[in-house]
Amino acid sequence: MRSERTDVQVRPGVAADLDALTDLYNHYVRETPITFDTDVFTSGQRRPWLLSHPEDGPHRLMVATDTDSQVILGYATSSAFRAKPAYATSVEVTVYVAPDAGRRGIGTLLYEALFSALAGEDLHRAYAGIALPNEGSVRLHERFGFRHVGTYREVGRKFGRYWDVAWYEKELPH
Ligand SMILES: CC(C)(COP(=O)(O)OP(=O)(O)OC[C@H]1O[C@@H](n2cnc3c(N)ncnc32)[C@H](O)[C@@H]1OP(=O)(O)O)[C@@H](O)C(=O)NCCC(=O)NCCS
Repeated sequence: MRSERTDVQVRPGVAADLDALTDLYNHYVRETPITFDTDVFTSGQRRPWLLSHPEDGPHRLMVATDTDSQVILGYATSSAFRAKPAYATSVEVTVYVAPDAGRRGIGTLLYEALFSALAGEDLHRAYAGIALPNEGSVRLHERFGFRHVGTYREVGRKFGRYWDVAWYEKELPH
């Protein structure tokens, strides 16, 4: 696995990444129940999302690229868990790897970079909501110390059926 990972770099996301990040996300919007968005985004519609993840602070965007081609292979974010101020010490994290780039360690690289970037922030907990089934995501989150805290049953409807969401929690050192 290591030799395949050496051609991948991880860096903060920037405005110039917007089109590629929108395309990557739209694949999962269109094809899967992994995200509960149901309508694809234009880049313009997705811009506020990108701008809400600056290069510092608790809400980050990390992007994995192919070192040679600079093609975006995946991204990970930390975002506000909920809006009310006492939730500010918690973040919700997500990770998306391009469909043809799975199982090469890229999700792992992205989360290593994300949690390393968050280490100095005033954060206490990270949460991930995983629409089931998603064995790859469950394994990735467990590898990073997330523990299952409960499952919302049939909490969303997409493609004409209901889906469960398993919530995972990670303690962040500070
Ligand atoms: C989930 C996802 C981010 C994993 O990224 P990845 O780059 O494939 O993961 P890695 O190669 O770093 O592997 C991490 C672990 O997941 C396992 N894994 C990855 N894909 C898997 C799959 N399809 N089935 C079973 N296990 C899988 C790996 O074997 C590895 O397990 P280990 O720690 O026990 O060795 C990626 O598959 C993806 O983007 N999926 C679609 C979007 C998504 O589900 N995002 C998460 C939303 S909650």
